[in-house]
Amino acid sequence: MNEIVAVIQSIIMFIPALIANSGAVITGGHFVIDRGKKFFDGRRILGNGKTLSGYLGGIGIGTITGFIIYLISGAFGYALGTYGNVYGALMIPLVMATGSLTGDIAGSFIKRRIGIDRGGKGGLLDQWPFALMAFLFLYIFERSYFMLHYVYLPMIVILVIVPPIHRAVNIIGYRMHKKDVPW
Ligand code: CTP
Ligand code: MG
Repeated sequence: MNEIVAVIQSIIMFIPALIANSGAVITGGHFVIDRGKKFFDGRRILGNGKTLSGYLGGIGIGTITGFIIYLISGAFGYALGTYGNVYGALMIPLVMATGSLTGDIAGSFIKRRIGIDRGGKGGLLDQWPFALMAFLFLYIFERSYFMLHYVYLPMIVILVIVPPIHRAVNIIGYRMHKKDVPW
């Protein structure tokens, strides 16, 4: 029972990494990161879908979301169980969201290299890199937190549920005319 609660708590604390992507969709579109440049293979380095406004806006929205989670969980007496203190409630979501959108860029880089154009369906390449990079960033910058809350069951559960969640969110974004394609 306690383990289930712990896994659910770890999932809730991971929401900033997920929301960061939606934040990028909302704030994106300005200052294309690769500035239109092509890689050695003649294809775009990243493509027009990766912009600085999306990257920074997504990180900001993800971080704020984490802080709100901290405040809400605190109101229910769970503050110590989540990000620990105000500093953690800002730093941990910041690290997660930054990892998330950095992984998103890495995914686009790989998509371009294997010949999938911007917006093309990438399957797990759309769904996993951001989550994996969020974990890697936590491992690098917030190791004790990562070890305590994500090794290993919560991380495995998250990697299993992220693809369907990502898909569902994108379908919603598509229906709301925020996204051009439902993936
Ligand atoms: N976005 C952005 N900057 C980012 C990430 C996302 O501006 N760093 C915005 C773009 O408008 C992008 C949308 O969010 O089109 C959806 O993101 P995503 O699905 O990751 O991009 P795609 O357009 O599908 O491009 P790619 O094939 O490179 O993933
Ligand atoms: Mg996409």
